[in-house]
Amino acid sequence: MNWRALFKPSAKYSIVSLLIVGVVIGVIGYFATQQTLHFTSSDAFCMSCHSHHSIQKELMASPHGSNPQGITVTCEDCHLPHNPIKYLMKKIVVSKDLYGFLTIDGFNTQAWLDANRKEQADKALADFRANDSENCQHCHTRIFENQPESMKKIAVTMHSMNFKKDPDKRKTCVDCHKGVAHFYPKG
Ligand code: HEC
Ligand code: HEC
Ligand code: HEC
Ligand code: HEC
Repeated sequence: MNWRALFKPSAKYSIVSLLIVGVVIGVIGYFATQQTLHFTSSDAFCMSCHSHHSIQKELMASPHGSNPQGITVTCEDCHLPHNPIKYLMKKIVVSKDLYGFLTIDGFNTQAWLDANRKEQADKALADFRANDSENCQHCHTRIFENQPESMKKIAVTMHSMNFKKDPDKRKTCVDCHKGVAHFYPKG
């Protein structure tokens, strides 16, 4: 076909062709983005920068990585938002870590993690507090109401007491549960 005709809106087929080209580009773009975002959410991607940190080993040894049900909770399950807009925003914020990765001296060593763990953990905790630990609640849906009978008495009591408080006085999951996936430093 003639390329000029393709871009001439008055020609009979050109608008159709343009639409087809548009849809094809759109579809390719959509899948390329999905693939990129999907790749950037995998544990392997997270561990490509955090590879010398004991993070994943600790996760796999915790009840979130090793339980009788055979469920493995992934980095993204806890650390990335489920809402697509917030998800993209977080990705953009996380992309600043590329700069940190390139500029922080000795970042990808266990010694760096050990020395900076409290500070890093508290930054992560701030994110959980800011959204009332919504990722925890995404899986743990029966903590405050309609608790299963098998839940420990002490847990039911603590959870119910907390839920009875005014919403702005309530504690969030990570206020009471620290170190559920990684070692949380004391002090
Ligand atoms: C490009 C390298 C890189 C990748 C990929 C990466 N990180 Fe990081 N991450 C860093 C750096 C660098 C820091 C330290 C940032 C600082 O303190 O300035 C960090 C810090 C963190 C922190 C603690 C500080 C905070 O702001 O919460 C968490 C949690 C974290 N990363 C989780 C993840 C998860 C989950 C993934 C996968 C979705 C991931 N990271 C992928 C480089 C990376
Ligand atoms: C993808 C789903 C999922 C997410 C997200 C998740 N959990 Fe869990 N959680 C589980 C599973 C599965 C178990 C293991 C159940 C078992 O041991 O039988 C578990 C176990 C637990 C336990 C009991 C074991 C322990 O470590 O003491 C606590 C407490 C807990 N989760 C808190 C949290 C908190 C806090 C968050 C958010 C930071 C969170 N969970 C996020 C699925 C999830
Ligand atoms: C006021 C403090 C407090 C808050 C807030 C809280 N918990 Fe707990 N939770 C406890 C205590 C205390 C226990 C019992 C001791 C233990 O198992 O660690 C417990 C136990 C659990 C257990 C184990 C239940 C069992 O029977 O083994 C899970 C899972 C859990 N909490 C998840 C959560 C999640 C998810 C949130 C947020 C929606 C949350 N908790 C909020 C104090 C709290
Ligand atoms: C069950 C939820 C959960 C999973 C799964 C999880 N994290 Fe975390 N992560 C947390 C919480 C909560 C904190 C805040 C500190 C704490 O309580 O241990 C944290 C803290 C961190 C930190 C700050 C440094 C530190 O050790 O506290 C990094 C880095 C991090 N996570 C990366 C990851 C990576 C990479 C993965 C996947 C291999 C992952 N996390 C899986 C919940 C989780």
